[in-house]
Amino acid sequence: MLSIVLHTLRTGISPMPTSGRVRRQLLSLLPEDLEGTVLELGSGWGTLAFALADRCPRARVVAFELSPVPYAFARLRQRLAPRPNLQLLREDFFRASFSGASAVVCYLFPGAMTRLAPKLSAELAPGTRILSHTFALRGWKPVQTRVVDDLYRTPIYLYEVPGGAGPADTGPGG
Ligand SMILES: C[S@@+](CC[C@H](N)C(=O)[O-])C[C@H]1O[C@@H](n2cnc3c(N)ncnc32)[C@H](O)[C@@H]1O
Repeated sequence: MLSIVLHTLRTGISPMPTSGRVRRQLLSLLPEDLEGTVLELGSGWGTLAFALADRCPRARVVAFELSPVPYAFARLRQRLAPRPNLQLLREDFFRASFSGASAVVCYLFPGAMTRLAPKLSAELAPGTRILSHTFALRGWKPVQTRVVDDLYRTPIYLYEVPGGAGPADTGPGG
């Protein structure tokens, strides 16, 4: 418990999982035949990471999480019900390269989104899909927004990195 609290203070967000309703809507915005590397930024207990790996079996999902307890839980789940296309990393995604990713998925908080925006536009190829729910990328125009029929009317934002004609179709894993 203490570890979760300390890492919530460190990262700025608790490992709150994405709800089933939001998850289903979010996943439907990613093509099932997506290839390449899908990055999940802040994977918590693995709720979204496992669902992403199932939704996009031809992609390699790389999930970053700093907080040790939810990370260990996700590792245990991976051991019990392995997804061959899922890689769980206990790493700070701000220190990772996003280069070559075919999609990025996140559920973070406003401060992280602000810090992420220049990294996303600098490192991702034009057209790469970015999916975020609850929090938007300020100053970016989503190509699609969905509002989930839940208590919070959770918004899901689909962006494409500006500067290209269409989504990037390959990445380092594919
Ligand atoms: C709201 S939770 C989302 C969990 C999961 N993505 C989901 O949707 O079910 C956000 C997670 O991001 C993690 N996180 C925040 N900043 C991070 C960073 N720089 N590197 C890795 N993980 C981070 C937090 O520890 C937390 O578990």
